[in-house]
Amino acid sequence: MKKNILVIGGTGKTGRRVVEQLQKKGVEPRIGSRNASPSFDWDNKDTWVEALNGIEKMYVTYYPDLAVPGAKEAIESLTHLSIELGVKKIVLLSGKGEMEAEACEKIVIDSGINYTIVRASWFNQNWSESFFLDPIISGEVALPMSDVLIPFVDANDIAEVAATVLLDDSYNGEVVEVTGPELINFKDAVEMIAKASNRSLNFHDITLKQYIMGMKQLQIPSDVVWLIEYLFNHVLTNPNNQLVINDVQRILGRKAKPFSEYAKTTASTGIWNQVNIN
Ligand SMILES: NC(=O)c1ccc[n+]([C@@H]2O[C@H](COP(=O)([O-])OP(=O)(O)OC[C@H]3O[C@@H](n4cnc5c(N)ncnc54)[C@H](OP(=O)(O)O)[C@@H]3O)[C@@H](O)[C@H]2O)c1
Repeated sequence: MKKNILVIGGTGKTGRRVVEQLQKKGVEPRIGSRNASPSFDWDNKDTWVEALNGIEKMYVTYYPDLAVPGAKEAIESLTHLSIELGVKKIVLLSGKGEMEAEACEKIVIDSGINYTIVRASWFNQNWSESFFLDPIISGEVALPMSDVLIPFVDANDIAEVAATVLLDDSYNGEVVEVTGPELINFKDAVEMIAKASNRSLNFHDITLKQYIMGMKQLQIPSDVVWLIEYLFNHVLTNPNNQLVINDVQRILGRKAKPFSEYAKTTASTGIWNQVNIN
């Protein structure tokens, strides 16, 4: 079954899984990636028309984050181009409690196109496919704000919700909030990963200032340091983010995946037991 769906970020944490979910439902989407053919590059608008040509619906993930400078302009241009080219619906991945992300949501909502906003809390997969992976491999996890409670959500749940709302127009006009089923803090997460992967992991509670200094010493690019500082300072501490929402259950008819289950499944891939070469 051909559905003319474009998955922007179709090789990323959620997009790759949205593609798999759609394929399970018999839909073969077009992948939006710099390496796809036709290619899609946020930094090269010349690629957009061909990537969107003939597309009816889109799942949009912005890289690296809707909070970064330039994201709003990019979402605005993409939304207007989509309408011009006859795209009928956008499913936008957004972040819970992010003011900048909400500004991007508003652009889509106010544009007149059919939409569903999928607003997610922090992903479990940040521990296995993103910036928390290296500390886990090293065995020394030093993080600030270790007592803040987060409803970590699994990227597989986000993808299943996104694929469902892409295909089912009864969710048009909704802002769907996807969280995990429980509130946990960083220490809890590290303990569950240690148990599941049979590793001894040392957790160090540090200040945000120390964390930022550490990233600078590791020569992490300044825009990435800015983004991480923003996420800790504004997103993690936002009380709206410290709530469990039952939209995964409402839409999928089953409970969201608990962190312990994610830890068990991910540990079995061996990703946390790699040899530390640093
Ligand atoms: N991580 C979290 O906890 C969290 C929580 C809430 C919301 N979010 C939101 O999630 C979004 C990211 O989604 P994600 O985690 O699924 O994706 P991701 O894994 O961060 O992104 C990787 C994807 O982006 C693509 N990409 C990178 N640079 C690109 C460029 N210049 N042009 C086009 N594509 C590019 C990559 O494709 P190629 O490399 O193949 O081109 C790949 O498909 C962000 O907007 C963020 O705000 C994240």
